[in-house]
Amino acid sequence: MCGIVAYVGEQDALPIIIKGLKRLEYRGYDSAGVALLNDNGLSVYKKKGKVSELENSLLDNPHLNSKIGIGHTRWATHGEPNDANAHPHYSSTENFAMIHNGIIENYEVLKTDLLNKGYVFHSETDSEVFINFIEDIHKNNDCTLEEAVRLALHKVVGAYAIVIMSKEEPDTLIAARKGSPLVIGVGENEYFLASDATPIIEYTNQVVYLDDYEIAVIRNNKLQIKTIENVETNPYINQLEMELEAIEKGGYEHFMLKEINEQPRSIADCMRGRLDAQNGRLIVGGLRDYINKFQNADRIIITACGTSWHAGLVAEYLFEEFARIPVEVEYASEFRYRNPVINEGDFVIAISQSGETADTLAAIELAKSKGATIFGVCNVVGSSIARATHAGSYTHAGPEIGVASTKAFTAQISVLTMMALMLGYQRGTLSETKYIQLLSELEAIPSKVEKALLLNEQIEKISEQYKDARNFLYLGRGYNFPVALEGALKLKEISYIHAEGYPAAEMKHGPIALIDEEMPVVFIATKDSSYEKVVSNIQEVKARKGKIIAVVTEGDTSVKAMADHVIEIPHAHEALVPLISVVPLQLLSYHIAVMRGCNVDQPRNLAKSVTVE
Ligand code: AGP
Ligand code: GLU
Repeated sequence: MCGIVAYVGEQDALPIIIKGLKRLEYRGYDSAGVALLNDNGLSVYKKKGKVSELENSLLDNPHLNSKIGIGHTRWATHGEPNDANAHPHYSSTENFAMIHNGIIENYEVLKTDLLNKGYVFHSETDSEVFINFIEDIHKNNDCTLEEAVRLALHKVVGAYAIVIMSKEEPDTLIAARKGSPLVIGVGENEYFLASDATPIIEYTNQVVYLDDYEIAVIRNNKLQIKTIENVETNPYINQLEMELEAIEKGGYEHFMLKEINEQPRSIADCMRGRLDAQNGRLIVGGLRDYINKFQNADRIIITACGTSWHAGLVAEYLFEEFARIPVEVEYASEFRYRNPVINEGDFVIAISQSGETADTLAAIELAKSKGATIFGVCNVVGSSIARATHAGSYTHAGPEIGVASTKAFTAQISVLTMMALMLGYQRGTLSETKYIQLLSELEAIPSKVEKALLLNEQIEKISEQYKDARNFLYLGRGYNFPVALEGALKLKEISYIHAEGYPAAEMKHGPIALIDEEMPVVFIATKDSSYEKVVSNIQEVKARKGKIIAVVTEGDTSVKAMADHVIEIPHAHEALVPLISVVPLQLLSYHIAVMRGCNVDQPRNLAKSVTVE
């Protein structure tokens, strides 16, 4: 994880770097640091804690003017979050400073070797080993820094996005990547480097995405890209379409609340240009070239992590119901390590908000090596997963900054629903009448989500009563089972309350033992084919004095008679209900976390994109 930013040009580097790091803080916030170069030499300033703490510590420092600099916000992998382990790291001569995002897997071997040669380390990080390894090659081979980096990259194992500054070449930045993202912004006489485009868009919309095994050298205001085999490549400049307002809070107290409230628009954006219910048209453009493979797939394998995996579970129900193709949903982290059976006839769908999740990327590479077709459902344009897949569809939810995923989840389900309907219709497993009916139901979802958001105040009141609970259960069946899992994950990650999601009927096989008057149980009990069964499960909890919070369909009376609280959401076809029923659960976790004084947007121990395995 971690966010990196670098600048070289005619402006003062520090404010650009600090602002950029704040935008990237969602990627990690254990410590922050910068390196700057001026008449005082190459100086590193770093500190445990948030970027604002680093910023405050620099307020009275008169030596910070520099036209070149690098900065880092860390999510620790090697060594605890403290000042010493913060980046940038100097090389032992202090001639070089480096920022690193990723993990060097063979750092212990390299470190032992360097220790034997007399190198001294000031941190426990793999990154400090990396920069000293480069320095060692530079010294022993009497070569340029660029060449030393190139040679080092042949020897290091693991993942990295790095940027290096050198006292010897004060106008030069050297960057490289493998596995971790790196974007280069090309301005007028200036360059920006960052883990994603958010620190860059304020200055330029021209960006180059560095590829794995590429080295970028910015020297004398010129960008040159070479592979690690020393072959020069032509930088391809992309035009960014992102807008600055999209990455700011827009009057909301937290990004998470803003993003929850954006869902009517983000779902509509996701369907725009794809769904035209009046004319019975649905086109998921990304599928065009692979539609035959998709239609004739022997099996669909969905791979993802966390919330994206929950969206995959919803998709399993959708694809099997409408397209009658068997589906398997796999945790990417398990899939890649268990020698799975993958055939050429398999269609693999990888779902990821960030498009940078290391486990999902590795699962994609594995499936690719077995000849399967890989389709990506990603939110971040130009991300590693979007580029590693054969084809894909963006979710168009806009930047999601809150670490807890909300609008990306509903956008993922929206894309997957469209894919399932399109596939079912084309395979003839979904009748024309039902297809047309579902298209118009889908088109109505944004306004129903809008209605569900009006429940905010009611949910805030419920939250007040349960904010001190120590455990929660979330139960749902059918399409609402993945929603139960997602509700529990949201609560866990931002309020630190232990929560479990279960298929409602599984409760009697174990979790029911947990139920007493202290246990809040959230039921998602909308009117669908398993409604009656869920009502029985509610009875079972009630008989054991559990506290029942039920998300029901508007007008429901049976559950109302039993539950301690009912949250009524608009009616929708059961296959589309997750898009609405998850909204009250997002709000519930949000309010509970705020009431418990938790850092909603940046929960402890987490990071937005998990680029480590
Ligand atoms: C979601 O709230 C979590 N923070 C997390 O589970 C996330 O969904 C997971 O890390 C996958 O991320 P991705 O969608 O960016 O691949
Ligand atoms: N492995 C490095 C460290 O622990 C970098 C981690 C990151 O990507 O934030 O400092």
